[in-house]
Amino acid sequence: MSRLSIHKLKEYKCRGERFAMLTAYDFGMARLAEQAGIPIILVGDSLGSVVLGYDSTVPVTMEDMIHHTRAVVRGTQKAIVVADMPFMSYQANPDDAMRNAGRLLQEGGATAVKLEGGSHVAPLVQRMVECGIPVMGHLGLTPQSVNQFGGHRVQGKTPAAAAKLLADARALEEAGAFAVVLETIPAVLAKMVTERLAIPTIGIGAGPDCDGQVQVLHDMLGIYDDCRQMKHAKRYANLGETIRDAIREYRMEVEGRSFPTEEHSFVAEAPLPDSTRAREAVAVA
Ligand code: KIV
Repeated sequence: MSRLSIHKLKEYKCRGERFAMLTAYDFGMARLAEQAGIPIILVGDSLGSVVLGYDSTVPVTMEDMIHHTRAVVRGTQKAIVVADMPFMSYQANPDDAMRNAGRLLQEGGATAVKLEGGSHVAPLVQRMVECGIPVMGHLGLTPQSVNQFGGHRVQGKTPAAAAKLLADARALEEAGAFAVVLETIPAVLAKMVTERLAIPTIGIGAGPDCDGQVQVLHDMLGIYDDCRQMKHAKRYANLGETIRDAIREYRMEVEGRSFPTEEHSFVAEAPLPDSTRAREAVAVA
């Protein structure tokens, strides 16, 4: 089975069909996402927060991204797999950026890469696209710049900031990006960008008018029920509670000796000779 092409997203836009992108970081979850019909999976550097326990995406490395991208690729056959370029894998030097993007495709097996930034990364995006590396852009509240923004603040709120974001989106499109994520910006601005670009926009905290939407898997599944309460995230399940309850039940059954039972145990083919039992008893003691 061959994977969907990145051009599929433009077809969705032309037909006015909305599409859902979802993050995944491992084999099992990627497999479930694909079985649920998700056409495009993002191995986001949100990996740092939701899987690796960092307080931002900044510590995530190329090795982390390659490792998790491989697992997601193994779990999928059809979905487009986009891998995030982690902090400082593309900002310092264009040659390193090219090599790192290439690694995500060659070693990770990704279909495309995503990187954050507007006009200043457009020449890099163009070079990648010319070398055959499909690129997704990311504008608005770009998490790798959270220290620069001074926190998770809505971006593009003033007329000047909105005009800059629109110019950045155009620069990415002209550079050859095949789609652009718009994160935490006013809905009215996301609508304007979506209408003015030929490439699809994918929103998170950017209102209902983007061509597609993206959610972080752990947020929509409610894995962290005591933190990560994001306004833009909709919780479709409370798996944190379900998982904790299941683990607690298992622990209590082991402690109360009601698990395992015969149902989960194995029988020997013939009665064990007494001498074997005696030797085992000595070994266990
Ligand atoms: O890393 C990530 O999960 C992302 C999404 C929030 C778009 O970049």
